[in-house]
Amino acid sequence: MKIQIINGPNLNLLGVREKSIYGDSSFETYLVELRKRYPEIEIDYYQSNVEGEIINKLHEIGFSYDGIVLNAGAYTHTSVAIADAIAGIKTAVIEVHISNVYKREEFRHHSMLAASCKGVIAGFGMDSYRLAVENFKNAS
Ligand code: DQA
Repeated sequence: MKIQIINGPNLNLLGVREKSIYGDSSFETYLVELRKRYPEIEIDYYQSNVEGEIINKLHEIGFSYDGIVLNAGAYTHTSVAIADAIAGIKTAVIEVHISNVYKREEFRHHSMLAASCKGVIAGFGMDSYRLAVENFKNAS
């Protein structure tokens, strides 16, 4: 089983950025634990701050992987283009957020992407990613 995790803008700063909201672990550190927990699953990771690069990655792997875990960061709330990319590929996408976006500013309450996704997981810290992987594993 192959799962792709995609992190969008500013998520390269996890562990440095707004620690009270996003915690103090880098994604790379978390990824080591996640891969240890699911040795039977190939978990690939990609991060970009650039909208078009996220779309290119979705196109590249969206017809061959078994699941995509996408934290599109702020693009979640703005990007029609990423929503169209999700709708256009074959692999199911789970939208994830580290923070509970519904507890935060109102502009974070709306997702442009959710309607094209299998589901949404938000507010469980880094564990949001694992919950998404677990869903794909159970569905396989
Ligand atoms: C986020 C929530 C978004 O609103 C924000 O722009 C992010 C991170 C999260 O994981 O909680 O960059 O996607």
